[in-house]
Amino acid sequence: TNKWVPICSFSEVEPGDVMQAELPDGHKLAVYNLDGDIYVTDDRCTHGEASLSEDGMVEGEEIECTWHFGRFDIRTGKACAMPCTVPLKTWNVEVQGDQVFVEDD
Ligand code: FES
Repeated sequence: TNKWVPICSFSEVEPGDVMQAELPDGHKLAVYNLDGDIYVTDDRCTHGEASLSEDGMVEGEEIECTWHFGRFDIRTGKACAMPCTVPLKTWNVEVQGDQVFVEDD
């Protein structure tokens, strides 16, 4: 069964920004604030070993990986610029008060 896991607080993520969070098993996540809405994807670029929270730049609703300038749609994980072709995993998010949860599957 899936369960909701707290990963960070809402107020830690500035609008237009991305930060890193972690599941209890150490799996790294990238947490985005798009105009007050929180989105979560895997942190590792699907093209290489870059960390999107550390090496990425939020551009509108996309995250650009600065290693080779690939891009993903933050809301869907879709790869939208070469050399990225494999989509990013996205996570279901719930915000309660100041706490951000993802649905751990
Ligand atoms: Fe991200 Fe190459 S590692 S685009």
